[in-house]
Amino acid sequence: MDTNSSSSILVQKLSEAGQSHLLHFWDKLSPDDQISLTRSLELMDFGEINTFFKKAMETSASIKEKMDTRMEAVPRDVLGSVTRDRDSVKDWELEGLSCISQSKVAVLLLAGGQGTRLGSSYPKGMYDVGLPSHKTLFQIQAERIVRLQQLAEQKHNVKCCIPWYIMTSSRTMSSTKEYFAQNKYFGLEKKNVIFFQQGMLPALDYQGKIILESKGKPSMAPDGNGGLYRALGNQGITDDMEQREIQFIHVYCVDNILVKVADPGFIGFCVKKGADCGAKVVEKTNPTEAVGVVCKVDGDYQVVEYSEITLATAEMRSADGRLMFNAANVANHFFSFAFLKDIVQKHEPRLQHHVAQKKIPYMNTEGELIKPDKPNGIKMEKFVFDIFQFAKNFVVYEVLREDEFSPLKNADSQDGKDTPTMARHALMSLHHRWVLNAGGHFIDENGTRVPAIPSLKDGTDLPIKCEISPLVSYGGEGLEELVKGKEFHPTLTIDQDGIHELVKNGV
Ligand code: UD1
Repeated sequence: MDTNSSSSILVQKLSEAGQSHLLHFWDKLSPDDQISLTRSLELMDFGEINTFFKKAMETSASIKEKMDTRMEAVPRDVLGSVTRDRDSVKDWELEGLSCISQSKVAVLLLAGGQGTRLGSSYPKGMYDVGLPSHKTLFQIQAERIVRLQQLAEQKHNVKCCIPWYIMTSSRTMSSTKEYFAQNKYFGLEKKNVIFFQQGMLPALDYQGKIILESKGKPSMAPDGNGGLYRALGNQGITDDMEQREIQFIHVYCVDNILVKVADPGFIGFCVKKGADCGAKVVEKTNPTEAVGVVCKVDGDYQVVEYSEITLATAEMRSADGRLMFNAANVANHFFSFAFLKDIVQKHEPRLQHHVAQKKIPYMNTEGELIKPDKPNGIKMEKFVFDIFQFAKNFVVYEVLREDEFSPLKNADSQDGKDTPTMARHALMSLHHRWVLNAGGHFIDENGTRVPAIPSLKDGTDLPIKCEISPLVSYGGEGLEELVKGKEFHPTLTIDQDGIHELVKNGV
């Protein structure tokens, strides 16, 4: 490295932080690569990274053995349930819809992840799970927002807007923005779809040294979905919310095909309970399911991730035979704006990073790229739910898994879980039930009514092929006039142009 003053400052900074190895290949880099390495290193706060590493390692070492004895299940009095509290659900929905009609509600999508498990090279929201319409996750979510705005407007006779904040990372930002622009924001107004970018952190080896993924490039990854809070502050998003007079925010993850974006029931429940923070859950029935559980730890609300709990604790059961820790986090959260602002301004620095041990490809000192077959380092991530501990009035809203939760995590494989096929089936099965509940029927190629519960065929539970556009129905409403007393051949699709039976028409 030459010795002009800015580069000597950088050399000194690296040396003080114990990260001088990042310049190991300096003389072998092209001038362009030298410039880009210098830029990326200048942007890093090494003091902060080293502190994050130290704290994260301390926390992660103490977590596993101690967590189990400190956990307590969610108490009944903070819990609302769409099944047990059926009589109240209508009121909650009306309350939520009223808040939406006053443009007090925003939705915030966490879409900065890399979708490593799914193995797609583009953002997960752009994934097509193979529905008859071939709509992607982003399109489905956008159309649900469009429809919900209409429902609130019709009910209250006012114009309203649900702003959609979308958190991306440097890996997903440009493709996500382009995709929305190309698709004219799926009917939403451009000014109400607000993109912002979370931060990145370097991957580290077990000694805290930053890993090089090539001779001139540190290995970087998004700083976890809890990177949200820093990004909300430093990208002016809380200011934007304040200007729009947003009071309630529904935060959710991109991968759940059944997500009820800005769910009026959930929002209304939280608002009526005066909550500053809430979490939506489904019942966890399988101890080894890869979901976090909402519970209390040392008296504070928290999500304990599947990786942070022992099997013995995951398997514990209550007297009624259900899992003791059965409040599975479906990554749908409610925050009041006042609470969120407080987090961003006061509590964010207190959030600890979680440590994920990973196999991280690295450049060895000989300049060879090594792809390790066992974990060789860590990635540090903050988690979105780590702010539950600061809530003064925390509530939990339990919904039905088959209606609201089918995340897309993995690529299709024979015995895979949370795959595109499962997501597609979950959506079609929900829409099938909507048609039946609205008084419609399905018939097979011989004109015989198909039983309401589809039979097992070739050992696979194949759902009736049925897809209803979110622009027609947000949650099963408004279908009676279209389907009541009628018989349909699958594949049935219902969209704004009407009802289509693809097989019957020979399509
Ligand atoms: C997440 C939840 C888990 C829950 C499960 C349900 C977290 C930390 N964990 O687990 O408790 O049971 O969903 O499906 O929320 N993301 C970012 N930036 C990042 C990393 C991730 O925006 O740096 C986004 C992803 O795009 C995705 C979401 O966060 O929308 C969840 O990320 P993922 O890694 O899939 O979380 P899980 O481990 O599946």
